[in-house]
Amino acid sequence: MIDFSCDYKKYISTEELEERVSQTRQYMARIEQDDFGGWLDLPVKYDKDEFARIKAAAEQIQSDSDYLICIGIGGSYLGHRAVIEALGGERGRTKILYAGNSLSARGLEQVIRQIGDADFSINVISKSGTTTEPAVAFRTFKKLLIEKYGEEKAAKRIYATTDANKGALHDEAVAKGYATFVVPDNIGGRYSVLTAVGLLAIAAAGISIDKLMDGAEEERAATISDGGKAAEYAVLRNVMLEKDYNIEVLANFEPNFMYFNEWWKQLFGESEGKESKGLFPASVVYSTDLHSMGQYLQEGRRALFETFVEVTDSYSGAKVPVSEENLDGLKYLEGRELDEICKIANQATREAHEAGGVPIMRVIMPALDERAMGGLIYFFELACALSAFTLGVNPFNQPGVEAYKTRMFELLGKPGYDR
Ligand code: PA5
Repeated sequence: MIDFSCDYKKYISTEELEERVSQTRQYMARIEQDDFGGWLDLPVKYDKDEFARIKAAAEQIQSDSDYLICIGIGGSYLGHRAVIEALGGERGRTKILYAGNSLSARGLEQVIRQIGDADFSINVISKSGTTTEPAVAFRTFKKLLIEKYGEEKAAKRIYATTDANKGALHDEAVAKGYATFVVPDNIGGRYSVLTAVGLLAIAAAGISIDKLMDGAEEERAATISDGGKAAEYAVLRNVMLEKDYNIEVLANFEPNFMYFNEWWKQLFGESEGKESKGLFPASVVYSTDLHSMGQYLQEGRRALFETFVEVTDSYSGAKVPVSEENLDGLKYLEGRELDEICKIANQATREAHEAGGVPIMRVIMPALDERAMGGLIYFFELACALSAFTLGVNPFNQPGVEAYKTRMFELLGKPGYDR
């Protein structure tokens, strides 16, 4: 289960916090009734037949592919990349590569070079099927696949995750006989990691999606009646915003969490950044960023608070080597676990930043494994929806995302988009 703590008393009294948390808990019913609230019960209501098909497809991919090219952008790629990387990467033969998440020619060519002569399959993920970035990448990799395997065999290596009934990708998949998986209508992109959108890539990477779902189910059980600790976090974020702490910095001490940070930024940024409202979600990976951003965090403009994602479990692994000499002055650390030193650096950072005027929140996972990751995803999804309702915005729309597309289509001369 995910734990949350914050030394809040400098910012709000216990009575006021309790009052506000109980108001926020009322939004649980609102989420349940929302057309886009399908993720709330997903850990206990997912499609078991599709789940089994995902596992079978993942086995097939592992048996015939050195690479799985995951084509998608935003909510259609950040979640699975976050999970796979946070859990230490692929565990079997198949390596996951990502494409269609930008319009960079260099980025696209780099993936093509990386595949070389190796065997590969494609998981194209797009609800609409018409998002420019993944559509261009899909066209590119489909052509390579057909050149390498021929049309019939190539079709067997394409896994399309899209709308159940309509859209360009759905129609193509039906016409060409691709294996298909569903982006549910009641779950938006940034909430979709525990659907086929994220699960196929995660399973193909050799990570247990059963354990991931178990962790989400456990977290749901702990929070479904009243929002649990997620409601407390949701309220305290808003309290900080009201006190002019406008930026929330998600901080952790694991380099593998870089894409988890990106997933979290989309979740909160797209859910809350509207109607001229919302915290700006930023992120750091320590201790790396203590040597670049640490100065600002300690002494810069006091407009930010930090939310640390921490792991309680100790990891026994690399130790500080024993040496006869002490030229580097590390004698006092000899033989100590690096993980223990890292946890002490974490504590020291929290204490120093708090003393420097940065409010600190802590989201704590029991271990760094599939179960805890499933729980962490559910915790943040729930906290985000509750926080957005508390802020007074709809957590499930993203009207602002269209503006750049319209302008780009006008400039590119897309039919129907005259300037
Ligand atoms: O969260 C979202 O809704 C977005 O990030 C979308 O997932 C993203 O724009 C991709 O859209 P689509 O899946 O239709 O290609």
